[in-house]
Amino acid sequence: MTSWIALSGATNAMQTEPLHPLYGARVTGVDLNDMSDSAFADLRRAFETHSLLVFPAQALTAEGHVALAKRFGPIEDRNSDSLKADDSFKIPEVSNVQSDGGVTGEMDLHTLNLKANMLWHADSTFLPVPALTNILTAHVVTETGGATEFASTRAGWAEMPQTLKTQLQDAAFWHRYAHSRARISPKLAQLPMFQKWPDQVWRAVWRNPTNGQDALYIASHAFAVEGLPGDEGAALIDKALAFVTQERFVYAHHWTPGDVVIWDQRAVLHRATPWDYSKPRRLSSICVSATPADGVDAMRMIV
Ligand code: OGA
Ligand code: MN
Repeated sequence: MTSWIALSGATNAMQTEPLHPLYGARVTGVDLNDMSDSAFADLRRAFETHSLLVFPAQALTAEGHVALAKRFGPIEDRNSDSLKADDSFKIPEVSNVQSDGGVTGEMDLHTLNLKANMLWHADSTFLPVPALTNILTAHVVTETGGATEFASTRAGWAEMPQTLKTQLQDAAFWHRYAHSRARISPKLAQLPMFQKWPDQVWRAVWRNPTNGQDALYIASHAFAVEGLPGDEGAALIDKALAFVTQERFVYAHHWTPGDVVIWDQRAVLHRATPWDYSKPRRLSSICVSATPADGVDAMRMIV
């Protein structure tokens, strides 16, 4: 099934096809390096509706990547605290490739951090301003393994039994970067880059302000539920995560170089999957911070 979501000119023919029965779209007919405002407006509408957009065979340049991210909102820079006056933003890489062309060892802290991405998460829930989206593009991929999996927490929330929903509806989760890293390696969690931010608390349900759709907002970084004893909170987090990451809510993206994937961190979890760590895998990623228009203020608890 193919649908034409907008035709505001002969050269602006963005086409979408379903990716998964419950969410997601494969988008063609658009050059992400060179989009008109009306083409971006179509893309943004598709993002709100489908939560996960896959654009095959793009040739996104570094400049195009940054420009596209800026159209969504403020670019997230986790290293802005260590930038010198003449440093500019460096596009973050999700990569095991070193500057000499070799790959990092399987047990190196760098690789362990990539393995921590294999826990279901939304990006940047541990930051004072969490991410709205991640724009990820693949440069070097492996023949087998290394897919990225997505799980719709909007679809998961919609199908959740009322008893569990009742426990989560007014709940809030505490998030900490070092928590997800400690699950892979306590030594990794000690690195200063995982200790930079104070714990953040976010409501458990994120309502999309443009369409009123609710989604569970949770991540591998969530370590406690506000107001619950530690073990009860941890059990509720595990139960909620297990529900929304059931196979029927999951889409696995097998990468081809040039693919661009853009997803809504408010409504979709993701995780990397293993590959042969002696093989190079290199993607680049720009996260964009959520703004009040994206509903972030309503996610804060007034304590
Ligand atoms: C990310 C991420 C997963 C992957 O870029 O935030 O989690 O498959 N990536 O590399
Ligand atoms: Mn991630």
